[in-house]
Amino acid sequence: MAAKKPKPLVAGNWKMNGGKASARELKSLDTKLKKAGRLPCEVLICPPATLIEGFVAKTRGTKIAIGAQDCHSRENGAHTGDIAAEMLKDVGAKYVIVGHSERRADHDEDSKLVRTKAEAAHRAGLTAIVCVGETEAERDQGSTLKVISAQLKGSLGDTFTAKNTVIAYEPVWAIGTGRTPTPQDVAKVHAAIRKRLITRFGDEGASFRILYGGSVKPSNAVELMGVENVNGALVGGASLKAEDFFGIISAYL
Ligand code: PGA
Repeated sequence: MAAKKPKPLVAGNWKMNGGKASARELKSLDTKLKKAGRLPCEVLICPPATLIEGFVAKTRGTKIAIGAQDCHSRENGAHTGDIAAEMLKDVGAKYVIVGHSERRADHDEDSKLVRTKAEAAHRAGLTAIVCVGETEAERDQGSTLKVISAQLKGSLGDTFTAKNTVIAYEPVWAIGTGRTPTPQDVAKVHAAIRKRLITRFGDEGASFRILYGGSVKPSNAVELMGVENVNGALVGGASLKAEDFFGIISAYL
């Protein structure tokens, strides 16, 4: 049976930015989305944890879903400062990003831990956005595909499905730098990821969404989102302002 082409996802990762006043960007985005009419992609914002509950309340009945940027692997317990996936679910989050390169670097998170976090997300009923991507040094050594392959192998478990998991390819050197790979390079990596997903999950592998992330902005969104096997974007800096984020979403309008 031919797998259905996945519905794209445009996800905003606000990282450690924003406060209660940032709700005005949500409102502005909602207004723009309403004016745009039928939306052929899903729209997600992952604000800092402090804003999740408030943003869920503010986006009820809109086309904007709210997610988180990380979760702990356990359901509860003595883990000061951490947040369980179940707690995110409890306040209305739908997605959680796991294994972002900033967490892999700042908190020494390895792929095994990333897998347990994604499994925690699934246990709680959240969709996990699993991030992979090579550093500049790895790219220069020509080991991009090797690195990504190892990250996928370690970060994904056998129970992962196209419904409970989204993959995000984010070259570390493209994050927040204004630099992006060429569409040809993106196509090559996304095709390799697709191939590995199909090898591992069979037909189901064709339905996983594979997002591109790293310096996506309104001016390059059409080109990047048009690449084969790119099923949406994970957007950092340009997701903070409704106008820019909507400019990226517009690649699908
Ligand atoms: P950027 O970040 O869009 O600011 O490059 C992307 C990300 O880290 O998810």
